[in-house]
Amino acid sequence: MKYANITGWGKCLPPAVLTNDDLSTIMDTSDEWIYPRTGIKARRVSHVSNSTLATLAGRRALACAGLEASELDGIILATATPGTLVPNGASAVQQALGAHQAAVFDLNAACTGFVYALSVATSLVQTGMMSKVLVIGAERLTQLLDWAKRDTAVLFGDGAGAVVLEASDIESGLIANKLGCDSEAREILHVPNFGTDRVRFADIDGLFTFNFEGQEIFKRAVRGMGEATGAVLAQAGIAPEQVDLIVPHQANMRIIETLAKRMNAPMDKVMVNIEHYGNTSAATVPIALCEALEQGRVKPNSYLLSAAFGAGLTWGAALLKWGDRVTPLGHCDEELPPCEQNALELIAHAVDGCQQARDA
Ligand SMILES: CC(C)(COP(=O)(O)OP(=O)(O)OC[C@H]1O[C@@H](n2cnc3c(N)ncnc32)[C@H](O)[C@@H]1OP(=O)(O)O)[C@@H](O)C(=O)NCCC(=O)NCCS
Repeated sequence: MKYANITGWGKCLPPAVLTNDDLSTIMDTSDEWIYPRTGIKARRVSHVSNSTLATLAGRRALACAGLEASELDGIILATATPGTLVPNGASAVQQALGAHQAAVFDLNAACTGFVYALSVATSLVQTGMMSKVLVIGAERLTQLLDWAKRDTAVLFGDGAGAVVLEASDIESGLIANKLGCDSEAREILHVPNFGTDRVRFADIDGLFTFNFEGQEIFKRAVRGMGEATGAVLAQAGIAPEQVDLIVPHQANMRIIETLAKRMNAPMDKVMVNIEHYGNTSAATVPIALCEALEQGRVKPNSYLLSAAFGAGLTWGAALLKWGDRVTPLGHCDEELPPCEQNALELIAHAVDGCQQARDA
């Protein structure tokens, strides 16, 4: 039996920070409303493309694994906000990294994208089709938001995280998973005109609408993640208390706490960084995993559990057995190009456009 061990990890957060107090200067909201309901204090706004974020996270993961990009057999970019649909975002990452031997594709399962991509990449390694795969979760959600809608604009942010998988004979990497989709609830988290459903000659305002039923999503998220978590633990024959660290999707602090409670896990066994980045969709899990490693919270040979949900409503859980290395083999010094504007300046044009569309 082959395994797909995680040998490298990296993240890329754009530097511009948009705080709750910043948001309260452009919409009727406040830190007092946002923080207790979501756990979010700030999020990042990217001044560079999705693929630039993805590439730097990927480069850092490769350095951590001690690999050259030319050694990669595959790159999977989990994203719902690719820079372009044709060609795919993963090809831009391949080009920037110089990973010429790699097969590349994007995978869209919204916020569950990284958990899905990890499962697909692991299967490719286990069947022997590939032996070194870069899996990235990257999003630039601030480009999609309706800044005149306070219920969604406060929740999301930009960022990227990545891992390198390498074939191994030792039990490691993803050892159990459960993926699914609650498509009956497709409409409750829906950007209906971001894609070819958009009627090209009829829509003129250039804005996306954002359908979002927060409470219904909350309910279904808790159910989906709870079921998936139970299924992977049963599949692996692992009791909840044997899980050393939970690395959940970071959508809402109260959802994370509910998941922990269901598993009877104390919060010090849960990796939480939502306060700093908000919901970066497919990027939350790899960013949180990377930070857990940086903080020394992942021990050699420990069990890690991840669970996520997102538009679709997709859901999934993954049980990982960590290998014996928890420190990077190398570092990448590269940084993003400097950002000359602050976060409010970066979004100012979009904020005006959204307000004008609403007033029209
Ligand atoms: C989004 C969420 C935090 C909203 O919390 P909630 O308690 O359900 O709040 P509601 O939507 O019922 O809104 C309550 C009130 O706050 C108001 N409100 C909504 N957003 C607000 C904001 N950013 N600032 C201030 N007030 C706001 C509403 O207008 C409503 O006012 P009203 O009672 O006068 O009509 C919560 O539903 C949630 O987290 N859902 C999960 C969604 C999620 O994580 N999705 C990610 C998918 S991957």
